[in-house]
Amino acid sequence: MTLLKIAQIGHPILRQPARPVDRDELLGAECQRFIDDLIETMHDAAGAGLAAPQVHRSLRICVIEVKDNPRYPYKPNIPLTILVNPVLAPISEERFVNFEGCLSVPDLRGRVPRHAELRVRAWDRHGEPIDQIVRGITAGTYQHECDHLDGALFVDRVEDPRTFCTWKEFARHHEATFREQVRAIVARYGS
Ligand code: NI
Repeated sequence: MTLLKIAQIGHPILRQPARPVDRDELLGAECQRFIDDLIETMHDAAGAGLAAPQVHRSLRICVIEVKDNPRYPYKPNIPLTILVNPVLAPISEERFVNFEGCLSVPDLRGRVPRHAELRVRAWDRHGEPIDQIVRGITAGTYQHECDHLDGALFVDRVEDPRTFCTWKEFARHHEATFREQVRAIVARYGS
């Protein structure tokens, strides 16, 4: 497996809508190897997710996994999930405010409103249909990763730019309050 280079904010690939993947391409050895590399790169960088455009590939593929993540110690775990050509649809009006960071946006976090309940339709890595409901903090992670496939970054969705902070200042001044909010969100939505 190969660790892939992660594009940083300012690189045009992060701003291009990615193209859909057809089934033959997905099932081909090259694309399967790419998905393995994407997962490996996410693990190496301790990301909660990683989208193909972040590694300079304009494809509608992203991977998500949270397993006691040191970058996001308050995040509920999410099993390894590969989404191909995902479509997200909110299933309620409910929203919550997430405090996000991104491997493509070094040392910056900010508060982002997200839908709290989503229907997710996609293919898995074998082209089998995924149709699931995701809620709460997990729904925020799905929206963040799928935004990458449309050329959007969390910084675009920060409503109040005064909430931008470095990771160090987040830990110092905002993490305790946010952890309280996360506990309430997890209690409400189960994830
Ligand atoms: Ni990101």
